Amino acid sequence: MARVVRFHEIGGPEVLRLEDLEIGEPGPGEVRIRVDAIGVNRAEALFRSGLYIERAKHLPSTLGNEAAGVIEAAGPGVAGFEEGQAVSVVPSFSHNDYGVYAERAIVPASALLPRAEGVDAVTGSAVWMPWLTAYGAMVEVAGMRAGDVAVVTAASSSVGLAAIQTADRLGATPVAVTRTRDKRRRLLQEGAAEVIVSDEEDVAGRVLEVTGGRGAEFVFDAVAGPGVADLARAVAPDGTIVLWGAQSGLPTPYPGFDLGMPALNMRTYTMLEITRDPGRMRRATAFVTSGLRTGSLRPVVDRLFPLEEVVEAHRYMESGTRFGKIVITVAH
Ligand SMILES: NC(=O)c1ccc[n+]([C@@H]2O[C@H](COP(=O)([O-])OP(=O)(O)OC[C@H]3O[C@@H](n4cnc5c(N)ncnc54)[C@H](OP(=O)(O)O)[C@@H]3O)[C@@H](O)[C@H]2O)c1
Repeated sequence: MARVVRFHEIGGPEVLRLEDLEIGEPGPGEVRIRVDAIGVNRAEALFRSGLYIERAKHLPSTLGNEAAGVIEAAGPGVAGFEEGQAVSVVPSFSHNDYGVYAERAIVPASALLPRAEGVDAVTGSAVWMPWLTAYGAMVEVAGMRAGDVAVVTAASSSVGLAAIQTADRLGATPVAVTRTRDKRRRLLQEGAAEVIVSDEEDVAGRVLEVTGGRGAEFVFDAVAGPGVADLARAVAPDGTIVLWGAQSGLPTPYPGFDLGMPALNMRTYTMLEITRDPGRMRRATAFVTSGLRTGSLRPVVDRLFPLEEVVEAHRYMESGTRFGKIVITVAH
């Protein structure tokens, strides 16, 4: 038996319940892990509320696909992993199939990465979603290079901070966009070259100012909605807006026609474009692993919550006040 978080109905954070369930043995290609830390992501809040890109197919439903722990048992056909090994679970499967919000969980072995010595469980549960998303979009998909300017919205989110660090590490210039001025100083400390406060400043005007009128080669946007029209004014000719989130919850226009049909690229993106492609995944894993080893990649963990406070963790996520990653820890 193990405590597992499930929801029996679609709704707010209060629908999350901690229940005692039989976990069982892993099947072919699966492992059972003792979960030590769980990475909390926007996707789970959207899935729980019925607003995610995939709906909960059966209720009650588990949730969560990013964690760190230790392998307890490996099912038939699992190679390369052994009992007692410290691992990270990389978000690469559907919440409908497996859920790591639990003391123990069965997950596909294909979602595991060995956790290097010195990478603790909290760090091991906090790096993969942000960096696979950011590195994958910026480098593998958009082709960002040294000297490019990258505008990053929702900059204080875990993905935003990973994007700032990724651009910085590759010699590109990260321009952070955040809603309120209170996060400005910390964003500069995390490597942002410029910080634009969207509640107070003209975002496009400021981007044009800091790029000498050229505009940014890339915009990585987690907000979407009507603000995209403004962001499009800040994009250099043949530049690209990558939409990786929709925090605004509002319909997103295609701004090209109103701007006179400039050479503007705009696309949506999920990190599945990386996890489902072995070559991209190998390069992304190498980027993150080397960054952790050398210390050039520094996950920002905002707050830890014990598993018993999963509802509070989701309420805190939805408050929008975070700066970095929220992690749930599991005491055994
Ligand atoms: N495409 C993918 O594969 C993928 C993977 C992971 C995450 N994501 C997306 O990346 C984004 C960040 O995810 P996360 O889990 O790191 O953090 P999160 O909790 O979703 O983001 C929190 C941040 O978003 C900003 N924000 C919150 N509400 C907002 C609103 N109504 N309008 C504008 N901005 C708002 C705030 O940043 P400021 O205060 O700095 O403005 C806040 O600190 C999410 O949109 C998520 O869906 C996408």
